Amino acid sequence: MHILVTGAAGKTGQAVMRALVERDTAVPHALVRRPEQMEAARQAGAASVTVGDMRDTAVWRTATQQIDALYHICPNMHPAEVDIGRMAIEAAQVNGVGHFVYHSVLHPQVEAMPHHWHKLRVEEMLFASGLDFTILQPAAYMQNVLAGWQSIMAEGIYRVPYPVETPFTLLDLADVARVAAMVLTEPGHRGAIYELAGTEILTPAAMAVVLAEVMGRAVTAVFQPLDEWQTQAQAAGLDPYAVVTLRQMFAYYARHGFWGNGNVLRWLLGREPTTFAQWFHTAKPH
Ligand SMILES: NC(=O)c1ccc[n+]([C@@H]2O[C@H](COP(=O)([O-])OP(=O)(O)OC[C@H]3O[C@@H](n4cnc5c(N)ncnc54)[C@H](OP(=O)(O)O)[C@@H]3O)[C@@H](O)[C@H]2O)c1
Repeated sequence: MHILVTGAAGKTGQAVMRALVERDTAVPHALVRRPEQMEAARQAGAASVTVGDMRDTAVWRTATQQIDALYHICPNMHPAEVDIGRMAIEAAQVNGVGHFVYHSVLHPQVEAMPHHWHKLRVEEMLFASGLDFTILQPAAYMQNVLAGWQSIMAEGIYRVPYPVETPFTLLDLADVARVAAMVLTEPGHRGAIYELAGTEILTPAAMAVVLAEVMGRAVTAVFQPLDEWQTQAQAAGLDPYAVVTLRQMFAYYARHGFWGNGNVLRWLLGREPTTFAQWFHTAKPH
């Protein structure tokens, strides 16, 4: 079964490639943006690698030739997510891709977060496409915590731009990737939309307690005002669209949190989802 993974050099794409190579029936193929990402994709198990920009129709037409199933991961916070989704769907139709699996997000209905709302529009296009589809809607990943690793190690501070009591149901990306590989290679998932969330409701304050316990040193969660976060993000060269979109996301988190229910993930995995403590025991950088 020939499966194309888009965004294959990214955080999610690499995890999905890793999960696919563990499946005997899957022959993974990769779409990456830059030539220097080809080697990593090959080493991750890609039988072929297409290099190109997802905003280019010709790239889609080439990458989806002789592909049985497409796992579409749009680049994070991309302003053209809806157009990219449209091109992916159109190429899948033209090249007769049998199964389109879309990596969406938990609560795509939220208009206040543009990257969620754009995913809902892509889901809507899939319904109308005539393609067999499956949609995964993951909550935020545990791996995102590692973005703050430097200050956790240097200062013992886990800094977040929303209140430290904000509730989340974080997921281990490896669990998400396992589900992705499963729906791509096993029957019975056509037409399904799966909300994927962890089973524990955790706040940044509670996460800091786990980080401290596992590392055997003090870690405190600290609220960082949004303006301060923005100044730092801009100084670090973050793309202006991503800055605005992340600000909207953090403001939403501050108002409502970002949490769901773990039943679907437990059912799909056939076991308890990985807990934050279990994940951090193996993932903590040394
Ligand atoms: N992070 C979470 O907690 C979470 C939760 C649920 C859903 N999601 C969704 O998961 C998706 C992937 O997120 P991620 O964090 O894995 O992304 P990521 O690590 O930023 O990876 C995105 C990949 O796409 C590539 N790319 C960027 N622009 C491109 C273009 N125009 N054409 C072709 N490739 C391009 C990037 O290459 P370069 O290195 O060249 O930029 C990178 O390899 C996003 O849609 C996000 O909303 C994330």
